[in-house]
Amino acid sequence: MKILIIGATSAIAKATARLYADRHAELFLIARNEARLAELVNDLEVRGASTVGHALLDLARQKDHAAAIDQAFAFLETVDIALICHGSLPDQEACELDYKKAEREITVNGLSVISLLTLLAFRLKAQQQGILAVITSVAGERGRQPNFVYGAAKSMVSTYLQGLRGKLHPFNVHVMDVRPGLVDSPMTAHLEKGPLWSTPEYVASKIVSSIDSRRHIVYTPGYWRIIMAAVCSIPEFIFKRIKF
Ligand SMILES: NC(=O)c1ccc[n+]([C@@H]2O[C@H](COP(=O)([O-])OP(=O)(O)OC[C@H]3O[C@@H](n4cnc5c(N)ncnc54)[C@H](OP(=O)(O)O)[C@@H]3O)[C@@H](O)[C@H]2O)c1
Repeated sequence: MKILIIGATSAIAKATARLYADRHAELFLIARNEARLAELVNDLEVRGASTVGHALLDLARQKDHAAAIDQAFAFLETVDIALICHGSLPDQEACELDYKKAEREITVNGLSVISLLTLLAFRLKAQQQGILAVITSVAGERGRQPNFVYGAAKSMVSTYLQGLRGKLHPFNVHVMDVRPGLVDSPMTAHLEKGPLWSTPEYVASKIVSSIDSRRHIVYTPGYWRIIMAAVCSIPEFIFKRIKF
């Protein structure tokens, strides 16, 4: 099994890569932090990955995407699963005051993913097989006051994935949208934890089992499907008064 993981040093990506290393997969990792990436490559080799290649990339630099994807395909030759994991949780207030900050966050969480999907869709279509899996968020389902810049970017990706799924279906390419709820990872280290929180390891196990069974949209943990259905059912005249 040949797997490309983008944003590979994310806590959820690392936990997922470890599960594939247990299956002796061939892996190619893309991330921006050299020390963390080198440590992960070593960890996955020790855990049983057949081979692990890597490329360093700041994913906000769209012009460098094509070269990194070329490198991944040169290493793996074909890709069975491409998993896109990177993201950042913005300071919502700062983004509201400064468009440039909002633009940076929308670039990382939204536009960079669409650039990568454009390159990967072309490659997987040519292969006539493969799986594109992207981590979005339940935050993309409704624009909430504390995080609607992040939510808007994730929502853009989810909508894009829906259309792409249909476009790639005739080419035997499967498109999966993973929507985690609250996960205890470096991204959320500053937030107070509660009963609804899950772990990167739990989300990773759901990603792998959902890829195995070719799911389309995955809420993880599953109770977020019910929570979000309830959140989305609140009428707008009430919702606009809610600050959560
Ligand atoms: N944690 C949650 O509650 C939660 C909930 C829903 C969805 N998600 C989504 O899950 C995914 C994984 O997040 P996580 O929870 O595993 O958090 P994480 O460990 O903080 O991972 C975020 C990753 O994104 C990378 N990244 C950010 N900007 C980048 C850039 N410009 N270029 C390259 N890499 C960049 C970070 O790289 P560095 O390691 O170099 O900083 C980090 O590895 C993200 O898409 C996130 O939006 C998370």
